[in-house]
Order: sequence, then C-alpha cells, then structure tokens
Amino acid sequence: MKSLLVTGGAGFIGSNFVRYFLDAHPGVRLVNFDELTYAGNLENLAGLQDRKEYTFIRGGLCVRTTPASDIESRSIDAIVHFAAESHVSA
Ligand SMILES: NC(=O)c1ccc[n+]([C@@H]2O[C@H](COP(=O)([O-])OP(=O)(O)OC[C@H]3O[C@@H](n4cnc5c(N)ncnc54)[C@H](O)[C@@H]3O)[C@@H](O)[C@H]2O)c1
Repeated sequence: MKSLLVTGGAGFIGSNFVRYFLDAHPGVRLVNFDELTYAGNLENLAGLQDRKEYTFIRGGLCVRTTPASDIESRSIDAIVHFAAESHVSA
C-alpha cells in the first residue's frame, strides 16, 4: 500500500486536502504530521481518526525531538507540505 505524508494537515488548506485525498484515494495510507500551532486544529479533522488509512502524528518539522523513526518506519512514498507559519505579524 502506498503512503503519503502530509505536513500541516490540521491547518486550513491541509485539512481540506486530507479529507479530499482520503476520499479520492481509498487505497493509500495518509500520515498527517502537524505541530498543532495557533493555526492547527484537530476539529478540522473530526471523524477521520477511526479511518484505518489515516494516522495523525503531532510533531514539528524544526524540532529535534520529533520521533523520526515513527515516520521512517511507514515507508513514505511522497510528501505534500502545508506546514507553515502562515500568519506572521510585522
Ligand atoms: N490559506 C490560503 O489562502 C493560502 C493561499 C495560498 C498559499 N497558501 C499557503 O499554503 C500553506 C498552508 O496554508 P494554510 O492557510 O493551510 O495555513 P494554516 O496556518 O491554516 O496551517 C498551517 C499548519 O501547519 C502547522 N505547522 C506550522 N508549523 C509547523 C511545523 N514546524 N511543523 C509541523 N506543522 C507545522 C500548523 O499547526 C497548521 O496546522 C502555507 O504555506 C500558505 O502560505 C495559503
């Protein structure tokens, strides 16, 4: 089974992408990796936690303590990045 890693999947665009992708590609595993910053909200993903193709991992791209082995062991085939500090004040 192919596996897709999505970063920032609890944000605005990411969560819509996650829902779309799981419906459009039922045979693909999706790992959602998100730090849950001010913009991340698991309510955007309500109802997905019971889907066997879906996994959520809380972690940050810039944080060394992120459990990299947790991701490496999933044999990721492709990555889609949405993780971002999207609301930066001047
Ligand atoms: N929203 C728009 O209209 C729009 C338009 C064009 C481009 N974009 C771009 O698309 C991307 C996503 O936008 P959005 O509106 O969904 O953003 P968003 O702020 O709603 O979501 C960003 C997500 O990334 C997560 N995140 C932030 N830093 C992280 C890190 N270090 N590690 C892991 N996760 C992290 C947050 O928790 C959040 O869930 C951004 O690059 C944005 O600039 C957005």
